Amino acid sequence: MSNTISKKSPVIISTDPGIDDAVAIALATASDNLDVQLICPVAGNVGLEYTTLNTQKILTFFEKNIRIVPGSRQPLLRQLKDASSVHGKTGMEGYDFPEPTLVPDTSVTAAQAMHEVVTTSEFPVTLIAIGPLTDIALYIHQYHQDLPNIDKVVMMGGALGRGNFGVLSEFNFGSDPEAAKIVFQSGLNLQVVPMEIGRQAKIMPATSAKIKDFGKVGDMFYQLFSKYRGGSFRTGLNMYDALAVALVLVPDIFETVDTTVAIETQGRLTAGASLIDLKGYLHQEANATVAISVDLSAFEDWFVRAIQETNN
Ligand code: RIB
Ligand code: CA
Repeated sequence: MSNTISKKSPVIISTDPGIDDAVAIALATASDNLDVQLICPVAGNVGLEYTTLNTQKILTFFEKNIRIVPGSRQPLLRQLKDASSVHGKTGMEGYDFPEPTLVPDTSVTAAQAMHEVVTTSEFPVTLIAIGPLTDIALYIHQYHQDLPNIDKVVMMGGALGRGNFGVLSEFNFGSDPEAAKIVFQSGLNLQVVPMEIGRQAKIMPATSAKIKDFGKVGDMFYQLFSKYRGGSFRTGLNMYDALAVALVLVPDIFETVDTTVAIETQGRLTAGASLIDLKGYLHQEANATVAISVDLSAFEDWFVRAIQETNN
């Protein structure tokens, strides 16, 4: 697994904020080791209007002048089933953000914007995908010639076992199974953090209490966490998307395996299931590096430090 992240390695984020996405965006854009050049909101947790507005809000809050190019408002073939029950109607309930100053660029598609970054980059680009894979799939499909200049695609998605979207499907892959299948058949360097790892690395009350004391930033995160229904303060908060950023920045806190990930798209009851074939039943070549566990205290230490860094 290519673990080094060069200071000059540009990053593109495809995201559906979403409270855990907001945290992941804050951590990625605050890191000295990442050069986030483009953020593409996609429909997922909530509709594209809200995921775009939420991206504008979070980048304005942290005073990050990063290009925002909205992507798809629907999955490739299926109807959007949002997660507003988890993230609230607007997708980022709980905090009264200042009026956004950043304006989204709607003159190009997300795929075109990704193509522009990748083809002008001096260094291979890391794509961080923390929502449905619709725009990543469209980009791969339309600009296949770009693939040699993509270092890796790091995704939060999939499930080793039962899902949170369907019986056997996780939200990001289950929302757009056809897109996920295109990505897993691309031959790219793919790294995956399945939902169980997010549940393993819950943000517990003591950590939330520490974050609350980090000034304006801590207050904002704490207010968002209070509305987030991906877990709770008491039982622990599932910061799924932050784990994808952690896999880029501190990969050594994870145990990973190279294995086959196949996406079911035909099953009337199982579409969106990610068959993470740890025992080789499918007899297919490995196509992804999958995190199967994380060092909890190392993640928590990193998470608190990284949140503090957003304060700088
Ligand atoms: O299953 C969790 C994923 O779905 C996270 O990315 C969360 O933000 C939602 O998009
Ligand atoms: Ca997300």
